[in-house]
Amino acid sequence: MKNTFGNSVAVTIYGESHGEAVGVVLDGLAPGIPVDKAFIDAQLTLRRPAGKISTARQEQDDYHIVSGVFEGKTTGTPLCIMIPNTQTRSKDYSATRALARPGHADYTAYCKYHGFEDYRGGGHFSGRITAGLVAGGAIALTALRQKGICIGTHIARCGGICDRPFGNLKEDIAVLSQMPFAVLDQTAADSMYAKMEAVAEEGDSIGGMLETAVIGMPAGVGEPWFDTLESMLSHALFGIPAVKGVQFGDAFDLIDAKGSAYNDPFRMTDGKVTPVTNHNGGINGGISNGAPITFRCAVKPTPSIYKEQETVDFMKQENAVLQIHGRHDPAIIHRARVVVDSVTALVLCDVLATRYGTDWLAVKEV
Ligand SMILES: Cc1cc2nc3c(=O)[nH]c(=O)nc-3n(C[C@H](O)[C@H](O)[C@H](O)COP(=O)(O)O)c2cc1C
Repeated sequence: MKNTFGNSVAVTIYGESHGEAVGVVLDGLAPGIPVDKAFIDAQLTLRRPAGKISTARQEQDDYHIVSGVFEGKTTGTPLCIMIPNTQTRSKDYSATRALARPGHADYTAYCKYHGFEDYRGGGHFSGRITAGLVAGGAIALTALRQKGICIGTHIARCGGICDRPFGNLKEDIAVLSQMPFAVLDQTAADSMYAKMEAVAEEGDSIGGMLETAVIGMPAGVGEPWFDTLESMLSHALFGIPAVKGVQFGDAFDLIDAKGSAYNDPFRMTDGKVTPVTNHNGGINGGISNGAPITFRCAVKPTPSIYKEQETVDFMKQENAVLQIHGRHDPAIIHRARVVVDSVTALVLCDVLATRYGTDWLAVKEV
């Protein structure tokens, strides 16, 4: 079992969907980082379900910072955030306990934990667990912003509808940070929203692709071979439930391109070595090259759908038909984007602390 990630800044997640609480422990984060409760609240709000395109479960995310913060700043000791679960409705799950939801982790968790898993609401495999990552990620995002490193993610594609590509990254990232539905082009946003509503109406679900950009990342960060920037980011991003693919730069898109088209030529710009294009997503040899870090995550359609599905009763070992009740997201992608930002921030704090030391992110008074 491994619910801790990171070398210099380690993130531990805990909790179950219908247990007492979910949360996060950050160990190794620098002291002196402002803990802006308004910003944590705003980030949690971006993750919280809203409207017909999300689950009806409404948690207020009234979190407690249990340790590691004193007088509004990180202390540098383990920082624990606990987010109580208050809106559980566990009876939805007992009747279908042994009916594996196709695409969900019910059967695999049963195999791994021998029936001792808390199956209510997906237990430890619920999207609810990502609330802790978002709360902790807000502090990591603040730490990075102080160093001029900013992260933004948009819904690049959903239901066959594409957002406009990233343009001026600084401006786009600033706009995205305020957007509850992170689509840069309003017409595309309206169409995606309508598509999600239509799919929800059918009792079905939909996935899509998130695109992320990080600006301000210094060149030279990443630990070849196995803790490269790509390895660390994708390792953590694959931890997010429903993320099924991660691509850096133009990877799969330009697989047939020639080197002359794929290479990012270097030029001196304002006295700085600068890649002119960014097909490599800001990473060469697993190390940042000073260009924006760019990657995309494929987010699959929500597994819990209201349509009847074939499955098995894994306790009785017989075929069955599943009709799901309970509360589920017809689409995850609009909620997952703040999770992607948060996970990215936590990983970058870790790799930067590995490269420059814990104190690089510290705000020092003495
Ligand atoms: C923010 C968020 C919310 C989610 N909500 C649901 C949900 O309501 N119903 C559901 O079946 N899956 C939901 N998921 C996805 C499942 O947790 C995930 O598909 C499942 O654990 C299986 O893991 P895998 O898709 O990574 O293989 C959500 C994921 C995230 C990130």
